[in-house]
Amino acid sequence: MKRFILAITGASGACYAKRLFDVLKDLSELHVVFSERGVELLKLELDLKTSYFSGENVTLYKNSKINTCIASGSFRTDGMIVVPASMGTIGRIASGVSTTMVERAADVILKEKRKLIIVPRESPFSTIHLKNLLALDEAGAHILPASPGFYSGQKTFEDLVDFVVARILDQLDIDQDLMPPYQG
Ligand SMILES: Cc1cc2nc3c(=O)[nH]c(=O)nc-3n(C[C@H](O)[C@H](O)[C@H](O)COP(=O)(O)O)c2cc1C
Repeated sequence: MKRFILAITGASGACYAKRLFDVLKDLSELHVVFSERGVELLKLELDLKTSYFSGENVTLYKNSKINTCIASGSFRTDGMIVVPASMGTIGRIASGVSTTMVERAADVILKEKRKLIIVPRESPFSTIHLKNLLALDEAGAHILPASPGFYSGQKTFEDLVDFVVARILDQLDIDQDLMPPYQG
């Protein structure tokens, strides 16, 4: 079973995190950590509490407590997804400050050259946002914007969410049937 870290931060788009969790929770071992603002957005956008993110293979972490296994490179994982990723979190990961669990876990993933998938949601981007995203890309992260396509017959809100989640699963090398490959 693959092992992933899922970080949920304070950008709009909690629906992407929920859908990704729903798909991954029975397929993988999941280590889930929320920023404080991520918890607020989860409540605001989906009326969900962190307790939703539970399961046999799921461990939850407090963002303020960083003396945990996912703070260490010796705890091997198959990658980390930050979804949705706020520009605040992106800036702090790009600067390497590592003061919270989300930031430290991402820092470890980068230093260990593992897979870090960042799903930013902001519009428009400032020069600072773009520079931070470029810094993360240069450090090896995968920048996967929460920007669904509309060319495969998407009709519902759920279809648009699935478009983005399918791209994340593709990046994680997990077979998915949320969205079949485009056939032309
Ligand atoms: C209702 C609401 C929506 C927000 N949406 C976004 C967003 O889409 N993208 C973003 O980068 N920040 C957004 N923010 C701002 C972040 O939540 C804020 O910068 C926060 O400090 C980020 O903290 P975190 O990175 O620890 O989660 C939003 C804030 C609120 C209150």
